[in-house]
Amino acid sequence: MFYCFHQELDCVTEKRDTLTSMQTVRVHLPARQTRYEIKIGSGLIGAAGEYIRASSGNGARRAALISNQTVFDLYGNATVRSLRAAKFDVAHWSMKDGEPHKSLRSLEQALAFLIDFRLERNDVVVALGGGVVGDLAGFAAATYLRGIAFVQVPTTLLAQIDASVGGKVGVNTSAGKNLVGAFHQPRSVLIDTDTLRTLPRRELTAGWCEAVKHGAVGDRKLFDRTVKLLGTHASGELCGEEMRDELASVIAAHCRFKASIVAGDERESTARADARSRKILNFGHTTAHALEAVTGYERFRHGEAVGYGMLVAGEISDSLGMFNADALELLRQAVRACGELPRADDISVHDLMTAMKADKKSINGNIKWVLLEAIGKARVVDGREISNPVLRNALRAGLQRLE
Ligand code: NAD
Ligand code: GLY
Repeated sequence: MFYCFHQELDCVTEKRDTLTSMQTVRVHLPARQTRYEIKIGSGLIGAAGEYIRASSGNGARRAALISNQTVFDLYGNATVRSLRAAKFDVAHWSMKDGEPHKSLRSLEQALAFLIDFRLERNDVVVALGGGVVGDLAGFAAATYLRGIAFVQVPTTLLAQIDASVGGKVGVNTSAGKNLVGAFHQPRSVLIDTDTLRTLPRRELTAGWCEAVKHGAVGDRKLFDRTVKLLGTHASGELCGEEMRDELASVIAAHCRFKASIVAGDERESTARADARSRKILNFGHTTAHALEAVTGYERFRHGEAVGYGMLVAGEISDSLGMFNADALELLRQAVRACGELPRADDISVHDLMTAMKADKKSINGNIKWVLLEAIGKARVVDGREISNPVLRNALRAGLQRLE
């Protein structure tokens, strides 16, 4: 078998004094001889040092913490305390907050920080923050001394279920998003679900959209479970220990799903277009990248744009006769349940189609669209199979306000 990933039965649930029902998802990438664990639970940051020590070994003396000021003010001191208690010599650096700072300039600053701190090959970089911090810190770790260990401590929902898992790290350039980067798997991932309590509502919505994406492309049960949790959330019942455990459990299920795809196609092979290829994780992204680009990266959080992008892809799938109207309505309800999205029906369809043609993800100039045959089953389709009128109508229908 090409990949091995520990399924449900291999995932252990432990109890600790200070943590409630922590879950562990084990990721195994045999092609790279790499294994790592994703720990998920409430209050985990307080024990971060202990876990980072366990995954880094006793040879690690220094931990270089990379965060941003927003997140460091909330969780920095607890993380530093815990690392020091685990006998790490700790220094921290805060990058500027926001997508524009996931840049080559910030990378240079991050590397200068690691050099100044005299980080050695046995030492570890710790990324504390959302996907921006994780991608930048991970890329710094991938390039410093030709690659040293890093640990992800993701603090947004999007980073917890998606960005921190799978080893894609990198930065944007003026020519586009994520154009420079590497595949560099973390040594471990520590997900403290309590950090979501301080996350702004829009960031939660963006994360839930990516969660709906996972279920839609690959796992009907995960889709239903996510939508159910969203329903509970909307009705205000998302509190108490039971809910906390269910949230951790759903996050674990998403990590498990993403890791299973990554384990089978770590580098998103251009030769693969099957329903388990890493490409399926780009569902909704062709439209999302166009929406973000034509609005100057200012109107949408990335996940929000993916919410609309999934609906456009659903409309195309319906037009091509591979997906039925009932399934499309389910997808629409799921996106609606994620939260309110900024309006998109005022954006020029012509401008969006032009932006799509410039998409950097094309292969030999052709966009590979991820479409749906059913909720839970994706199909990768060559863009040449989608006529301009079909695309135009799908954009008009998919970008309508969700009442
Ligand atoms: P982000 O990192 O910009 O975080 C969103 C905002 O929330 C920021 O202002 C941040 O300071 C704040 N924040 C973070 N945690 C907080 C908390 N607990 N409480 C309060 N505020 C908090 O955005 P994101 O959505 O986490 O990540 C988006 C990035 O992830 C993009 O750059 C995208 O390309 C990348 N991404 C990477 C992968 C991957 O596989 N590597 C996958 C998906 C997305
Ligand atoms: N978020 C898409 C991927 O990791 O491949």
